[in-house]
Amino acid sequence: MLEISAAVESFRQTYGGEPLVFAQAPGRVNLIGEHIDYAGGWVLPMALKRGVTVAAAPGEPGRIRVHSDRFLDAGVAEFKPDQQPPAAFTRFVYALALETKISGADIAVVSDLPVERGWSSSAAFAVAVTSALLALNARAYYPQPLELCRMCQRAETHALGVECGLMDQYVAVYGQAGHALWFDTRLEKHEYVPIDLPDLAILLIDSGQDRALAESGYNDRRRELSQALEQLERRIGKFDSLFDLKPEQILNAAQDLPQISRLRLRHIATEQQRVERFVRQLKTGDAIQLGRLLSASHNSLSEDYDVSTPELDALCDTLTARPGIFGARLMGGGFGGSALALANRHVLDGDLQAALASYTAETGLATEWHAVRPGDGALVTHQDGTTELVREWLP
Ligand code: GLA
Repeated sequence: MLEISAAVESFRQTYGGEPLVFAQAPGRVNLIGEHIDYAGGWVLPMALKRGVTVAAAPGEPGRIRVHSDRFLDAGVAEFKPDQQPPAAFTRFVYALALETKISGADIAVVSDLPVERGWSSSAAFAVAVTSALLALNARAYYPQPLELCRMCQRAETHALGVECGLMDQYVAVYGQAGHALWFDTRLEKHEYVPIDLPDLAILLIDSGQDRALAESGYNDRRRELSQALEQLERRIGKFDSLFDLKPEQILNAAQDLPQISRLRLRHIATEQQRVERFVRQLKTGDAIQLGRLLSASHNSLSEDYDVSTPELDALCDTLTARPGIFGARLMGGGFGGSALALANRHVLDGDLQAALASYTAETGLATEWHAVRPGDGALVTHQDGTTELVREWLP
């Protein structure tokens, strides 16, 4: 995560004054449990040590100014709450300002998180900007941490058109160093699961492929899933949550549904099982089993949920063909972006490089990789200089 001093510098250069408050929020990787957070499933994300850092000060009443080299075109975007701005990220800030009911702020944003690579930069951006806006305002009422996550999720749907689940915002707030979150998206509760794999590396690998049509593809999948659920209910009667049913029940009942519905339901049911097994295997640290679950998740996302691309398939195949790389899968929403792999530390200089070189030769795409560890959730720094976790600050 970039230091607060970087945000101070950006603020001074942009507005000429001094910021009063700061907020930082991390990106995430999702270890396993993809595309089931909007279906009420359990997912297993962890916060990254990279993220978005925001410096803010009160501005002219009724006017928001925001500057970011990475998220916005260079320069300062400026808007008033009664005019919806046209550009996507400005619209996002506008939606967040409406959610917090705060207008009148100057904001500078810096980040070490790649944008649109599947690392959840938009949720980190939203949580950091919202936390900073709230910290600026010594109001009597603050949302609860879970409500802050929902505010950011709503703003993302309104401004960016992605009907996302709550996973990314949630882990940006509740992340804990050294742990993943076993997040039950139906009850909106989590348990921390220690990530203690000393000989292994969790790798985040940018495929070099842009996430083309990711929004429309994502929203299409959500629609297909809700159609599949309606068809399933017509067949077996009403149920509160898909996850009240046993996976075998879902798979049996889905047999006679149209093919798309059958496939989408098969992914959801089997992915849920994989999350449970992955959590169990984390306790034993069995790299081979963990890797198998990752690769099975990828196959299901590719074949049943249809959110992969030939490039992501090639990347995962090339990686897992190497000894010492136990499994790999696309990570996040899919349609390009990044993959996640689990590897023995000793392959990082040899087999990993060879696998990535062969992928680049095959696809012409340049990759970038990082070994990642779980970090903490969002932080806020108040006017008096004290820093605390956002989830502990909010009521
Ligand atoms: C995106 C969404 C999340 C989740 C993942 C897929 O990151 O924002 O809510 O649905 O895709 O698991």
